Amino acid sequence: MEKNDNIFVGLDIGTTKVCAIVAEAKNDSLEIIGVGTSSSTGLKNGVVVNIENTVESIIKAVEDAELMAGYQIQSAIVGIAGSHIRGFSSRGIVAVKSREVAQQDIDRVLSAAKTMSIPMDHEVIHVIPQGFAVDEQDEIKNPIGMSGLRLEASVHIVTASSIAAQNIVKCVNKAGIDVSEIVLEQIASSEAVLTEDEKELGVALIDIGGGTTDIAIFYGGNIAHTFVIPKGGQSVTGDVSKGTTTIPQEAEKIKIRFGIAKESLAGKDEIIEIPGFGGRPPRPISRQLLGNIIEQRMAEIFTWIRKNIEKNGLESKILSGYVITGGAALIDGGAELASEIFNAPVRIGFPLNVGGLTDVISSPMYSTAVGLVKYAYKNGNEKSRKYYSSKKGENLITAIKNWFSDIIDYFF
Ligand SMILES: Nc1ncnc2c1ncn2[C@@H]1O[C@H](COP(=O)(O)OP(=O)(O)OP(=O)(O)O)[C@@H](O)[C@H]1O
Ligand SMILES: [Mg+2]
Repeated sequence: MEKNDNIFVGLDIGTTKVCAIVAEAKNDSLEIIGVGTSSSTGLKNGVVVNIENTVESIIKAVEDAELMAGYQIQSAIVGIAGSHIRGFSSRGIVAVKSREVAQQDIDRVLSAAKTMSIPMDHEVIHVIPQGFAVDEQDEIKNPIGMSGLRLEASVHIVTASSIAAQNIVKCVNKAGIDVSEIVLEQIASSEAVLTEDEKELGVALIDIGGGTTDIAIFYGGNIAHTFVIPKGGQSVTGDVSKGTTTIPQEAEKIKIRFGIAKESLAGKDEIIEIPGFGGRPPRPISRQLLGNIIEQRMAEIFTWIRKNIEKNGLESKILSGYVITGGAALIDGGAELASEIFNAPVRIGFPLNVGGLTDVISSPMYSTAVGLVKYAYKNGNEKSRKYYSSKKGENLITAIKNWFSDIIDYFF
């Protein structure tokens, strides 16, 4: 139960469940050694609305993961989602200090790109380089060592509402855990389910959770676009509840047991029995009707995504197709419906390339949590932003230190 640099912890605070995963790096691969899940009641559409409930869910998931792993969790990399998230492209330009591009120039140009047009009351979560140009030569992936006078970077910037981010950090800290880094949930999920070839060729990752649907688009190996839709499996359940006059808990069960995302998948005469409430007897309904209700909502979500992709001129870049993941991707016929709407191949994304307790996490529901540990493993625990600490006072001191080192870097 001591600190171990080979251990990586991911905490996915979702709208329907909280999941903590402990993974250990062993011989160049990542093995999952602990998983804890608890139901989540403190979030709405991906955003914390009740601190106490969220803290309780985190403590429960963390305790279970700790017990399974035999490891006491001190810090975790945590996911963020919600419709407050903004993703946009930006550019930065700097003079190359010693006429040969060094890491320091890259840090400065990314920092310059970050200063542009950040929405009020937002903080930057990611600055993702998409490509560099040195003088007149562009489309450079790694400019280190190149000669030139001017370095330009195009980046994708992701920002989040500072309040929403602070509330996540507050909940995790109240559960006694430091936040090493905050990562956009679909960026994490894409680490778990996409292949490098798909990212190179062009792919859209769609994580359909309970409260939000989170999208990340990649091509040329980099993230080109991200956005969030504040609808997911809970909206589908809500529609089933209204459309069949059942309470939401029953509607959820009916959806999971009989749900189909395409009305045409049910036979014409297929009847299912739904429990009556308040002492009433069970009622028969047509499975096609259930399919119709679900299809309408799922089609709305996919069409919303298609329009956003078209608006950004990206449909021709998605050459390897679409990958749907998240719990709501499990619905029968979901991939077929998506394929019709996107007019492209669609597959369901399960967490890939991890060892250990693979049978426990082998569901699209665990893509974000598995992706968080993979992200931490790839980028290193220590690269993380240390100011998300549960220890009072450290936040401000580290923030001031970072600010000074930025200023010194800029002037000298
Ligand atoms: N077999 C299934 N068929 C249809 N829907 C399913 C199935 N299994 C789970 N779901 C739905 O998946 C949703 C939960 O997915 P997930 O665990 O990915 O969400 P979350 O991470 O808690 O939420 P979010 O990411 O939106 O904050 C629920 O709405 C649930 O009804
Ligand atoms: Mg989720």
